Amino acid sequence: MSQKYNDTPQNKNRFTITAALPYTNGPIHIGHLAGVYVPADIYARYLRLKGKDVAFICGSDEHGVAIPMKAKKEGVTPQEIIDKYHGIIKKSFQDFGISFDNYSRTSAEIHHKTASDFFKKLYEDGNFIEEVTEQLYDDEAQQFLADRFVTGTCPRCSFEGAYGDQCENCGSSLNATDLIDPKSAITGSIPALKQTKHWFLPLDQYDTFLREWIIKGHKNDWKPNVYGQVKSWIDEGLKPRAVTRDLDWGIPVPVEGADGKVLYVWFDAPIGYISSTKEWAEKEGKDWEAYWKDSRLIHFIGKDNIVFHCIIFPSMLQAHGDFILPENVPANEFLNLEGQKLSTSKNWAVWLHEYLEEFPEKQDVLRYTLTANAPETKDNDFTWKDFQARNNNELVAIFGNFINRVVVLSHKYYDGIIPEPEELSTIDKQTLQELKKYPEILSTSIEKYRFREASQELMNLARLGNKYLADEEPWKVIKEDEARVKTIMYVALQIASGLAVLSEPFLPFTSEKLKGMLAFNTLSEAPQWNDVVEKEVLLPAGHRIEKASLLFSKIEDAEIQKQLEKLEATKKANEAETKTEKAMTEPQKDTITFDDFTKLDIRVGTILEAEKMPKADKLIVLKVDTGIDVRTIVSGIAKSFNAEDIIGKQVSVLVNLAPRKLRGVESEGMILMTENKDGKLVFINPDEDGTQNGVTIN
Ligand code: 2FM
Ligand code: ZN
Repeated sequence: MSQKYNDTPQNKNRFTITAALPYTNGPIHIGHLAGVYVPADIYARYLRLKGKDVAFICGSDEHGVAIPMKAKKEGVTPQEIIDKYHGIIKKSFQDFGISFDNYSRTSAEIHHKTASDFFKKLYEDGNFIEEVTEQLYDDEAQQFLADRFVTGTCPRCSFEGAYGDQCENCGSSLNATDLIDPKSAITGSIPALKQTKHWFLPLDQYDTFLREWIIKGHKNDWKPNVYGQVKSWIDEGLKPRAVTRDLDWGIPVPVEGADGKVLYVWFDAPIGYISSTKEWAEKEGKDWEAYWKDSRLIHFIGKDNIVFHCIIFPSMLQAHGDFILPENVPANEFLNLEGQKLSTSKNWAVWLHEYLEEFPEKQDVLRYTLTANAPETKDNDFTWKDFQARNNNELVAIFGNFINRVVVLSHKYYDGIIPEPEELSTIDKQTLQELKKYPEILSTSIEKYRFREASQELMNLARLGNKYLADEEPWKVIKEDEARVKTIMYVALQIASGLAVLSEPFLPFTSEKLKGMLAFNTLSEAPQWNDVVEKEVLLPAGHRIEKASLLFSKIEDAEIQKQLEKLEATKKANEAETKTEKAMTEPQKDTITFDDFTKLDIRVGTILEAEKMPKADKLIVLKVDTGIDVRTIVSGIAKSFNAEDIIGKQVSVLVNLAPRKLRGVESEGMILMTENKDGKLVFINPDEDGTQNGVTIN
């Protein structure tokens, strides 16, 4: 294999921008948006505004191991799972203005063919090692266990919940057989070792190429978090990596003697970028090859995908030989939510589809907050208070306020027609000069993938406009110098136009609205990114703008409180679940003798009366017919039941418990209870209501 590589295309104006293909086993949340899709979208939109030739590519990753697992759990087919979430995810992206040129899916025929052909080429060129090795096998499920199908203790950090492909605690990438005390995630049984044949990509043979290309070649232009992770991987020593699996969900391995085997999801998924490009090119009548052979390739991903995009996929591309390598992989760190790791399984997330139900038409507020606080260099926290502050103190008070004042005053003084300016003062000239610096300021940040910085610079442009109006005070000057106000409003309107153009990558919905308000559609040529620098005027005198409409509105404390309460409820439910899980796995109590057990006299009884004990949150005073007698029992169940709802219920009663006084009432026995999954108490009932009272339970 040649050590020569190609990451520098001839064509500097063509860009292939990819955003990680999301797994279709759940909806997407703010972490996905902040880590991958908003930065990728800002970048793609920016490049289009600069007149570049852009293919912004994504799609659903539908062969993830979690998909058949979820299907099994829910008693549906994997196809049903992927169809459901592909739809939800695709819609969320559209709703948030993520401007993919193509959003495909890896179940598409074009992808199956592209991935199969890719594998075949590597196979035929002798790029794989074929080897029979011992892999973990679950006898009960009759299935080999790899990746998420097996859990165990991480050999690196001793974390007990590591998966067969990765430890989420220390980030190490693992092989299933590396795990200590492995356990099947399907049946819980301890797997045995069984022989099976697989194809391996010998990553160790790519060591020199990767060192040349990344360690030497990208030390200064890749983000330190990405470069550092890749370097430590390479320094640890690369090992051959299996690219096939014994599974029935995925793309069949396209060679003889591979029945029952599919391509490893991480082999096929990145090829999805190529197949999605092909699908798009076919629709648009373009040449897909140009975007993979002579184009600047940038992968937007989260940090958990670094190894796949910087080591494995590039090695695959290098082995294939026809394609360009990525110029950069600007991976982000993780976003937390209110101080805790985002988690799909724990429902610790702000789901995009739910956000839009609660904050309709506030997509840009979320986009802005996630950008201003993006986890670019370290993990970062999303808090609802910060979200509110970004909206109220920046978008409403600075950006929205400036635009509103400009548009309202233009209508008040000039009926919305841009006035002819008088001679510009020094401050006017300086302000217009400042405006002209912004495209370059924003470009510099965006091209270095510093989107947080860029979003703050955009806000600085709105600040410039606000300061200009506050200093020039047209509302006061109008009383003594009408001509001067014409100039002030003219200058302010140029800044408003600059904001309309330059905000598009960050706030696409706002930019669209603002362009509408400034009636860009009636101009012979609407201003573009470079025009902010190059054109003398963006909005000419005589042009009529539309009436003001609100770009942003204040978010009240009550709305934030509601979100915090929602999270609090999730936290409580999770704590209850952990408590139950812990209780279930706690060591059993000391052994008792059979004689000890026969001392317990447990009977079926019926609750005849129930009354909440005054001034005690938890207690209900019951009258219970035990079959032997009717007696009083005080039970700590008031948080789980209303007294009136349980009258007539049949329950299990321990009748020979020594009586004891609770808040002055003598309790003569105990009702047996358990907890359900939501942490609520439930009765341990006899099998069917109608069992005779007094029957013993043993
Ligand atoms: O981590 C993930 O969500 C993967 N589905 C990302 C795949 S990116 C690419 F390779 F397709
Ligand atoms: Zn670990």
